[in-house]
Amino acid sequence: MSWTLCIDLGTSFTTAVIADEDGCKFVEVDGGRRMPSVVNVDQAGRLHTGRQAHAMAALDPTGAIRSPKSALAAGEHAVVRSRDVRTVDLVAAVLRRIADEAVRTRSSPPARLVLTHPAGWDEGGVRRLTAAALAAGLPDPSELYLSEPEAAACWYMHSAGQDIPLGSAVAIYDLGGGTFDATVLRRNHDGAFDFAGIDGEPWLGGQNFDKALERVILDNARHIDAGAYTRVFGSGWADPADAFAFREDVIRVKEELSTAQFSDVRVRGFPAAIRVTRGQFVEAISPDLERSFDALVRVVETSGIAGSRLAHIMLSGGSSQIPVISELMTQVFGRSPQTTSDPKGVVVLGAAAYGQLKLMEQQLHRPAAPQQVQVQPPAAGGRAGTPWYEKEAAIVGIGVGAIGVLGAILGAIDRHRSTVRLY
Ligand SMILES: Nc1ncnc2c1ncn2[C@@H]1O[C@H](COP(=O)(O)OP(=O)(O)OP(=O)(O)O)[C@@H](O)[C@H]1O
Ligand SMILES: [Mg+2]
Repeated sequence: MSWTLCIDLGTSFTTAVIADEDGCKFVEVDGGRRMPSVVNVDQAGRLHTGRQAHAMAALDPTGAIRSPKSALAAGEHAVVRSRDVRTVDLVAAVLRRIADEAVRTRSSPPARLVLTHPAGWDEGGVRRLTAAALAAGLPDPSELYLSEPEAAACWYMHSAGQDIPLGSAVAIYDLGGGTFDATVLRRNHDGAFDFAGIDGEPWLGGQNFDKALERVILDNARHIDAGAYTRVFGSGWADPADAFAFREDVIRVKEELSTAQFSDVRVRGFPAAIRVTRGQFVEAISPDLERSFDALVRVVETSGIAGSRLAHIMLSGGSSQIPVISELMTQVFGRSPQTTSDPKGVVVLGAAAYGQLKLMEQQLHRPAAPQQVQVQPPAAGGRAGTPWYEKEAAIVGIGVGAIGVLGAILGAIDRHRSTVRLY
C-alpha cells in the first residue's frame, strides 16, 4: 500500500507519522515518539543521531549540534570540532534516521513526503530543508510543505471543524522548543475556514526558558553558599561534560516544575541541593511569556475578532504545558484553553491530515476507478461522546468526514498563502 511520510523537524525533538488510507501511526525511534533532534559529529566526521547522539554529547559535547533545525535556519554552514559542516547534511542525518525507522515497518519506501517548517522561515531555510530531504533519499516535499501553525490548524480543523460554531473563530498558541506562533482561524457562515491572522516570534521557545532557569539556579546557588558558588561556577565549566549534564538538569527541572511546585538540582562540587520554586521560574520567564501573549493578543485584534467570539483557544508545542500559560490565558480571554494529551503531536498529525487530504483531492480530480477513493460522508448531526480535544491524537482517522472538511481546509490554506503575509 502506498504511504506518506510526514515529518515535523523540531528545534529540540523531531516526530514523524506514517499516513496511509487506514489512518496514521507515529514512527518510533529508540522506543519513543519524540527523537531528540541533536546530531553528533564524531572525531572522524561521521554523523550520529537519536539516543546515540545524545549519549555521545553527554560525554563529549564539543561534537554536538543540539539543534540542526536552528543551524539550518541560520545558514549553510556550522562549525563543529573546528570542522566545517553543511547544515543540510546535519538535517539530512535526522530525516534519514527517522525515515529508516519508518521504512523498517513497511515493505516499500514512502511515495510522498510532507514536511513542516516555522512560519517565519525565509526561502533559504525552506530551500535548504528540501535539499536535506533529497540528500536523505526522500521524495521531493516541494508540493507538500506546510508551515507549523498551518499544520496545527489543519489538525484542529480536521478533528474539531464541525464543533466550531459558524461565524466564530479559534486561536492557536503554539510554543515549542525554539519558535512561537499565534494563529487565528475564522469559520465563515458558509462553514469554510479562513486564516484571519498569524503572528509569532521565530526565536522564542523552551530554549529561552532553559537559559532563564539557569540564571535562577545560579542565583540560588550563590545565596546558599557564596564561596562554593565561586569555586564551582565562578570561572565557567572546566569539563564540557559537566556543562552538558547541568543543562540537561536544567531542562529536567523546568519540565518537573510543570507538575511540581519546586525541584532540586545537584551539581558536582557544590555541597547542597539547589532548590528552585515554580514561582521563581515563572518570574524569570515572564518577559518571554509576555512577548508571546502580546503576539497572541495582537493577532486576535488585527484579525478583527473580538475575544468573545473566540470559540476556542488551543495549545500546541511542548512548552505550552507550562501551567501559567493556561492560567494567563484564562485571565486574558476569560476562558481556559484546550489542549491534547500530546501537544507536541499536533503539528505532525496536522501534516498527515493535510497530506492525505491533498492526496484525496488529486484522486477526486483524476478520472480514476471510483473504488480507489474511499471517503466516508460526514456524520449527520455532529459528533457524540468524547469531546474532540480530549481524543488521543493517535486515533484520529484521516478518512472520516473528509469530504466535508476537504474544501474547507485546503481552501483555507490556499487562500492563506495567497493573501496573508507571514510575519
Ligand atoms: N512538561 C513540560 N513543561 C515545560 N516544558 C516542556 C514540557 N515538556 C516539554 N517541554 C519543553 O518543550 C520543548 C520541546 O517542545 P516541542 O517538541 O514542541 O518543540 P520542537 O518541535 O522541538 O521545537 P520548535 O517547534 O520550536 O522548533 C522543550 O524545550 C522541552 O523542554
Ligand atoms: Mg515543533
